[in-house]
Formats: sequence, structure tokens, C-alpha cells
Amino acid sequence: MKVLIEPADRIKGRLAAPADKSISHRAAIFAAMADEPVLITNYLEAADTLSTLDAIEQLGALVERRSEGLMIRGVGLRNAQTPAKPIDVGNAGTLIRLLPGWLAGQEGSVFELDGDESIRRRPIDRIAEPLRLMGAAIEATDKRYPPFTVEGAKLHGIDYTLPVASAQVKSCIALAALMAEGPTTITEAVASRDHTERLMVNAGVKISRTGNELTIYPTDELTLPERIEIPSDPSSAAFAIAAAVLVPGSRLLVEDCSVNWTRSGFIEIAKRMGAVIITDLEERSKDGAIAQQEPLSDIDVTAGPLKPTTVSADEVPLAVDELPLIALMACFAEGRTRIEGAGELRLKESDRISAVVTALSNLGADAEATEDGLIVNGHGSLRGGQVDAAGDHRIAMLGVVAGLASQEGVEVVGVEAAAVSYPNFLEDIAALR
Ligand code: S3P
Repeated sequence: MKVLIEPADRIKGRLAAPADKSISHRAAIFAAMADEPVLITNYLEAADTLSTLDAIEQLGALVERRSEGLMIRGVGLRNAQTPAKPIDVGNAGTLIRLLPGWLAGQEGSVFELDGDESIRRRPIDRIAEPLRLMGAAIEATDKRYPPFTVEGAKLHGIDYTLPVASAQVKSCIALAALMAEGPTTITEAVASRDHTERLMVNAGVKISRTGNELTIYPTDELTLPERIEIPSDPSSAAFAIAAAVLVPGSRLLVEDCSVNWTRSGFIEIAKRMGAVIITDLEERSKDGAIAQQEPLSDIDVTAGPLKPTTVSADEVPLAVDELPLIALMACFAEGRTRIEGAGELRLKESDRISAVVTALSNLGADAEATEDGLIVNGHGSLRGGQVDAAGDHRIAMLGVVAGLASQEGVEVVGVEAAAVSYPNFLEDIAALR
């Protein structure tokens, strides 16, 4: 599906952003691993997180839709059923990397996982290696791609340093650690989103963090709260925030959004570029303690002029899904913006370094790819043109925001890809014009 997004006069109003995708995936998987029923309210009803509900149902969990939310009755940590057919994760990278952590601990059972064309291009060796070290057997296509099988085993704890900053890989190992013999320590050079850790605290798991070293102790069962409320997704809210920053005369209030410090990199970088954003960001705890709650705040955004910036490797995981928006915003600043240490972007739903550079260049921007990031020479405005989402939800939404802020409008091809994380995106944007 193609849409033509005309330049906006302004972005104005209040936005209740959709539920957080990362937390929805995790809450459903945790509920499936629990013995007692859990009510999840405000679960994200988008393609990716619906794949997770299908997956946990195939593994034996019962998912009941109630007016107040999803009632999930899990199977317990060690009792996942073997599905009759392969688990199809669709487009969901988080699902295909987290779920094997749980499956690796199902002694004597074999599970097959597969996904769409984009998933089949994304390597899973980064989870296969630590899971093998813990005792599971993984057989992948060409040694590193889906479809692949996980053979559950009696696991043992490991000390593992993550070769890449990835919350997905960290979370996969952390889930396996729950069923292992002995503690597991995971070291990450750069902090990444910590929703799994917070849920573990809430589930009564013994878990501690010193600096960037995380230790998880095994447990017999998860004791989750009876109800888990999913907050709004800062990565989805970021699209409207960027539009409000870029379109002169705009004023946007995003209501009750997650401001977890491991997800707030986009707001920090945007503020550094000169964006006027007022919000109550959570601070990182100095002693490394893991917070229990997901912090919420309103986010108040006003349009204003921007300056270029440099985004460094240690900021990348805190803004990883929003870097395309930083690149777009850089087109409107005068001067050179550089994003460094973001090689991971090449392994997302598309190669997002080349996808962003192609999209922005087609709109008249001066953008170039580097091996691990990109450079944008901003000239204060963007002409417009055509963006092909090529199946990547965040590129589809990037095209829409670019259209709102452009001089001549943007035609977005394949805009339906947005439904992977944000099914009502076009309606929400239309309501803000
Ligand atoms: C996610 C982590 C990030 C992010 C993805 C969701 C998660 O991936 O890009 O959209 O829910 O853990 P990596 O941590 O692998 O970079």
C-alpha cells in the first residue's frame, strides 16, 4: 500500500502511544513460564506481539481475551509442550531470540523456530553460542540462520561476556539461567534495555547487577504479580515526537510514556540537538540496583531549530531503534551529524544503515553510510520524494515523518509494514495534524 504524506502545517495535540513492544513480548513469555495465572493489561496488539501469543499457546499456555486484558495461564518453567509444527515468529526478532532461552531448559524436548523472509536473513549464532555453552544443542541453517532447532537439556550456569551490546541476547541467556545449575553472570560492555531484569525482580528471581555485570540465580518457579500493566512504547512515541520537533509551530504532549533510562537515548540526543522536550527521565541508579517498576512520564514537545551532533557507540543501545529518526532530524540541522558504533543496525528488520541512507538520499538529503553508522550533512530542510519501506516497519514510519516535515511531501510505499509495531500509526498521525 502506498500513501502520499503531504507536508504538515503543524503537529498538535495529545498522543497515547501504543503499548511497549519489548515489554509485551517479555510479559507474555514470563506469564507462559509461570505457574499462576497472570493478567496482562494494555498488551500490544500488533503483528510482532501477536506472534508471541501464538508461540506461547503452541507451547501449552492458555491465552484468554478479557475486556480488561489478557489472562495467561502458563505451564511453569520446565513444562513447555512440544508444538505439533514449527513455531512461526513472523517478523519478530525479539521473539526468535528470547524464546530459545526458555526452550533450551526443556530437557529432552526439541523445538523448531522459523519466521518470515527478513527473519531468515538475521543471524541467530549470537544466541546459539551461549546456549550451547550452557548445554543445549542448536542446529541452524548454514550454521547461523533460521529455521533452526533447539534441543533442551540440563543446563549449567556460565560466565559470558556479550560480544555485541544486545538486550535480546542478554535476555535469552538470562531466561536460560533460570533453569541452569548454578548462577550465570552476563557482562555487557555497554548497557542495553533492562526490561527482562525488571520483570525478574518482579517474579521473585534472585538477580543482581554490579556495574555492567549481571548475575542471575536459578529458581524453581516464577512468582509474578497477578497483573502486569504494559506502559506506552517510547520507540513508537519517538515518531510523533520527531514530527513535532521538526514541523514549525508544533506542540505535542505524549501521555504517560515509559521513560526507562535504558530507552531514553533518543530524547537525550534530541535534546542535545536543541529540541525542546520537557519530561521527567528516569536516572540510572549509581549502585547498579535493578529498578522494579517501569517509570512513566508525560513528554511535552515543541518545534525548534536543531544543531548537528555525534552519537557514540555507548549511546547506541539506548536509542537503537530511534537512530533512523536521529538521521532524519540531522537533515534539518545545519552541518554534519555522525552516528558511530551502530553496526548492529545492519542486522535489524532490514540493513537499516543502507535503508536509512537510501531513503533520505531519495528525499534529497546528503547522507552516506559508513561501516558502522552513517553521516548526514544537514542543510536545514528536506525536499521530499519517495520512500520504500521494503518490509521494515520503522522505515515505513520514518517515511511518514519525513513527509510531514518535508517541503514537497513523501510517498511511502509499503506503509502497511508499520503494523508490526504500531497498527494505528497513520490514524494517530492524522489526528495530530
Ligand atoms: C529489543 C532489543 C533491541 C531492539 C529491538 C527490541 C528487545 O535489539 O532493536 O527492537 O526487545 O530486547 P538488540 O538488543 O538485539 O539490539
